[in-house]
Amino acid sequence: MIIAIDGPAGSGKSTVAKRVARELGFAYLDTGAMYRAVAWRALTERLDLSDPLCEASVARIREIARTEPIDFGFIQGEPLPSQVFINGEDVTRQIRSPEADKAVSPVSADAGVREALTEQQRKFGWEHDTVMEGRDIGTVVFPDADFKVFLTASAEERSHRRARQNAEKEGRTQATAEELAAVFADIVRRDAYDSSRKVAPLAPAPDSWELDTTDMTIEEATAAIVKRAQALTIASPKAPLT
Ligand code: DC
Repeated sequence: MIIAIDGPAGSGKSTVAKRVARELGFAYLDTGAMYRAVAWRALTERLDLSDPLCEASVARIREIARTEPIDFGFIQGEPLPSQVFINGEDVTRQIRSPEADKAVSPVSADAGVREALTEQQRKFGWEHDTVMEGRDIGTVVFPDADFKVFLTASAEERSHRRARQNAEKEGRTQATAEELAAVFADIVRRDAYDSSRKVAPLAPAPDSWELDTTDMTIEEATAAIVKRAQALTIASPKAPLT
């Protein structure tokens, strides 16, 4: 069974998708981390990441996406894999850096990179009951997913969440007004970019369930999705193996 969870940056996708996977006992795949890992490798090779990508870089970036394996590992004490490796190198921290945030947009807009990563994502989904999160899971990667959720929240609320998360990583409880303004500008930029790109733009699949989490807690959003997923499993149990 595939549960596709798509939505814009800061919609709560990652946290909710992980919790849904844990509650249902499903595997979890963060496809954004895969695009980030390829973008990070492009940065380490100092490829030209102008937008659109320059000709010389395109071939190399596609080669990285096609040939360098991306793996996920478990951080001790965490129930779901959150460690990310590309070509054996642990890039868990690097892929969340501001440099990677910037580089991932042009890299993820390239059709060749998307083709290579989509293939790996499908393979993963064929092998496991999976909660897969991203931007195009319900539209491109698994258009026949069993359950498609499109998570949204207002840009203001998403910025507050992201800025608070960033501050908490540094041991603070609140973000400054300047940090909040910077996060808001980045979220608006990324929304526009992800929704307007030619290949696999961010958009709800016509048969997705749109859940606006602006006024919901993580727990409420998780519970709502789990409830629907369980209703679906009961309604259409898997055929027994013969
Ligand atoms: O979910 P995230 O912010 O970690 O994703 C990083 C970037 O990757 C984001 O700019 C959109 C892109 N992405 C994508 O194009 N398709 C996906 N399935 C997942 C992420």
